[in-house]
Amino acid sequence: MSEPAIRIFDTTLRDGEQSPGCSMNLQEKVALARQLERLGVDIIEAGFPIASDGDFEAVEAIAKEIEGATICGLARTGEMDVERAARAVESARHARIHTFIATSDIHLEHKLRMTRDQVLAEVDRAVRQARAAVEDVEFSAEDATRSNWDFLVEVFSTAVEAGATTLNVPDTVGYTTPKEYGDLIAFLRERVTRGGEVAFSVHCHNDLGLAVANSLAAIRSGARQVECTVNGIGERAGNTSLEEVVMALKTRSEEFDGLDTRVTTQEIYPSSRLLSSITGVQVQPNKAIVGDNAFAHEAGIHQDGVLKAAITYEIMTPESIGRASNELVLGKHSGRHAFRDRLEELGFAVEGEDFERAFKRFKDLADAKKVIYNEDLEAIVADSVQTAGDRYLFESLVLTCGSDGPPSAKVALDLEGGRVETEASGVGPVDAIFKAISDLTATGSELIQYQVHAVTAGLDAQGEVSVTIEEDGRRVIGNGVHEDVMVASAKAYVHALNKLEWHKARHAPDEPKGI
Ligand code: KIV
Ligand code: ZN
Repeated sequence: MSEPAIRIFDTTLRDGEQSPGCSMNLQEKVALARQLERLGVDIIEAGFPIASDGDFEAVEAIAKEIEGATICGLARTGEMDVERAARAVESARHARIHTFIATSDIHLEHKLRMTRDQVLAEVDRAVRQARAAVEDVEFSAEDATRSNWDFLVEVFSTAVEAGATTLNVPDTVGYTTPKEYGDLIAFLRERVTRGGEVAFSVHCHNDLGLAVANSLAAIRSGARQVECTVNGIGERAGNTSLEEVVMALKTRSEEFDGLDTRVTTQEIYPSSRLLSSITGVQVQPNKAIVGDNAFAHEAGIHQDGVLKAAITYEIMTPESIGRASNELVLGKHSGRHAFRDRLEELGFAVEGEDFERAFKRFKDLADAKKVIYNEDLEAIVADSVQTAGDRYLFESLVLTCGSDGPPSAKVALDLEGGRVETEASGVGPVDAIFKAISDLTATGSELIQYQVHAVTAGLDAQGEVSVTIEEDGRRVIGNGVHEDVMVASAKAYVHALNKLEWHKARHAPDEPKGI
């Protein structure tokens, strides 16, 4: 791998996964990691191995699977944390340990109850331990932007002396501004001992809506790694959005001295869609780069201009981010080869049982719907990959509803290899379906949110349903896609229940759900 000017450190699977409802199971994490590899990110922060067995397994599986990116595991400075991260990434082709401790007086006093000297000793010990396990060690000073600048110099110099190769300066609470952050990076580069031998990294949260602007200001001050997430997901208001930073560097190259990333920008949209399908969290319509309206010209004067010359109102093309929308792709006579080729063109590598499931879904859809778009195929793939290895499988739904009498739903599931079936009635059809599924699975979870949206335009569009449920404070989102919205609803609920089962099996109820 040749070294890019700006390294993209993707933390969708770690900081991103910490946002409410964005938790993913093992298969989903591996599928997303494969897409991140295609996208061309340099480092994938795959998880926080000490947090749970599930996190450990995911980091380990991704480390084994991915060859084209460095795989990183997060650890606090504790000995057990670093040890667990080292074990999780040990089979990676390129492994990194990312260790961190808070450095602001606010955190030292109220959270860590440690003195500055104790923090320095921890940094030295943890970085040395990590460095004994891997060559590539990143150190982060949590809450750096509210820390004393001179103390930061001491902390980072200690990390460098102990062997850190990347120094990360997080704006943990999204507090800084572009000018201040740029000045801080320049100050640290100048003052940290042997600062010229390491890479400075930035990690911004979006509480004031400044995460991307702050990251770009830091690049102008010499930062050479940006930590970010697909769709900008992450704690609270989210992290720096990967697609926005990458496209800003590309589109305004002259503003950044031509500094570029290794990202294949045509994979941006497929990555965004895959993440939304997996988590069920859709991006806002006006989200830069990947939102539904990002390339839609509504005003007549704009439409007229774009038709005459796209450059009048378009600073990037939808194609440059892999968004060849509304393209008729396949019909009901298309065979396996055409289907596989099209999926590959869209960037999906779907194999084995997942491929068979996806192909069957495609054939059923092609029978029901005249026109099939790229968005339909993306939805089919996400739906088919999600169901592999689940505890409950949706089998069938028979629904009776209308203006006369209460609706009733007969639902059949495959429950660990055996067919189970029941019938329930409810206030509306969705209520009836959910009651039947809840009886069959004996779930103790509570329904938090139910949402439907159409995958494409047109009355025959597939419906995409997302269902948010919660049990013991753990919140998950399930997703289901089908041309019949009621079937999509049943699938979404079953998907959510599978995710909950997966998390319950791997996490103790009282363990920390993030950092
Ligand atoms: O926001 C933060 O400070 C973090 C660190 C672990 C880098 O996510
Ligand atoms: Zn963070």
